[in-house]
Amino acid sequence: MTFSAPAAPTVHVASEVFPFSRTGGLADVLGALPAAQAAAGTAVMVVSPWYRDLADAAAVESVGTLNIDGIGEVRLGHERRAGVEYLFLGLEAFDREGLYHSDDVQRFSAFGCAVLPALQALNVQPQLLHGHDWQAALAVAHAHLSGWPTVFTIHNLQYQGRWSLHEAAGWTALPAWTFQPDFVEFFGDLNLLKAGLVFADRVTTVSPTYAQEITTPEYGEGLEGVLQRLDSEGRLCGILNGLDLDRWNPRRDAAIMNYSGPRSKASNRRRLRAEFGFDRAPVLGTVSRLADQKGMDLLLLALPELVKSWNVVILGGGDPLLEAAFQGWHFHPRVAFVSGLNEPLAHRIYAGADVFAMPSRFEPCGLSQMIALRYGTLPVVRATGGLKDTVPPSIGFPFVPATSQALLDACSEALATRRDRAEWERRVKAGMALDFSWNASAQAYRDLYSEILAEG
Ligand code: GLC
Repeated sequence: MTFSAPAAPTVHVASEVFPFSRTGGLADVLGALPAAQAAAGTAVMVVSPWYRDLADAAAVESVGTLNIDGIGEVRLGHERRAGVEYLFLGLEAFDREGLYHSDDVQRFSAFGCAVLPALQALNVQPQLLHGHDWQAALAVAHAHLSGWPTVFTIHNLQYQGRWSLHEAAGWTALPAWTFQPDFVEFFGDLNLLKAGLVFADRVTTVSPTYAQEITTPEYGEGLEGVLQRLDSEGRLCGILNGLDLDRWNPRRDAAIMNYSGPRSKASNRRRLRAEFGFDRAPVLGTVSRLADQKGMDLLLLALPELVKSWNVVILGGGDPLLEAAFQGWHFHPRVAFVSGLNEPLAHRIYAGADVFAMPSRFEPCGLSQMIALRYGTLPVVRATGGLKDTVPPSIGFPFVPATSQALLDACSEALATRRDRAEWERRVKAGMALDFSWNASAQAYRDLYSEILAEG
């Protein structure tokens, strides 16, 4: 093997890592946090599946194969970038198109079981293993059972990796005593996310407000009891995500007309209006997964009223019903819906819109509102989770009830504020000046790791 192991690294484990694989914000975090940690002097590795359609696959070097009982052959791929060692695990179950499938509990169980043997085969002795979301939870459990310090981060509590315990127990290689309600059993099912919660030394989520919200039945997704216990033991906290400031920089972004203030931003709005044949009304934009979490149904319900004052551009894919409903607006000159992922268009929306809407029902952190702020596009957001922690009412337009009326009211407030040009420019400038760099988060994780290591 040509791989030489870094000394005592922090090992992140996750199902997505930008730029290699991505469906959402999880990938962005794994694309930025490890690099920030490496820049601050920590040895860092990231372990992720070797998907068939991994982007940049050509850069990944094969460093060997491994045979694991019950799983079969696992190919090991390695790549080093920005001081971070990436390790890709090529399991047979990942050799197909796309990231996620209906048999994911089985696939990611295999992945979770393969992480420790792969590290051992490469002589990596982690200082700490840091797993992200349910797909990495089993690796956290096995690491803990092997005596390693562990952190588990919740990016989304709604996805838990549940399957009939009877069928799935054998996939996990966990000892029989863990298959009870105090550990990984959950209403007759195996719940992989719960394995991360109960076995990690510390559980974090990606904003302080969301860390509190998930201890309540409204946001706890059935796990509020477990989370309350963690909270009372001082094992649960929220650390706000940062933003990759190189990737998201209106002064240098190649996909837009560059700008550094409110006046020069206007040419991007002109171009966006022209692109979609919009008139001179202000532009409300959004870039979002079309999922229940994101409250896009509230935006849909608000459209008939919204189009009286706004041009509306929506970029996103997901729920087929929502896609069809937004498609249904194609006749309207003030509505543009583009389905799917489209990175350059996303940049043009962030740069060209006047306001950015995020009516999320829940939002662990959210990255789009931070991008919007940095691009001088004022966020209209539900005051929940990370949205509440990043969008001050003196800059954006937060609203509380999860209703289309509350969204409309916040948009009206934005419209009224926009008539006061000086006040609008003040808000745009203040938003662009907010500091969302990863440094503060990287420091907070470092403190957390030290706390755990000091406990021994
Ligand atoms: C998930 C959450 C989002 C968060 C992201 C990264 O996608 O829904 O709120 O920003 O993970 O942590």
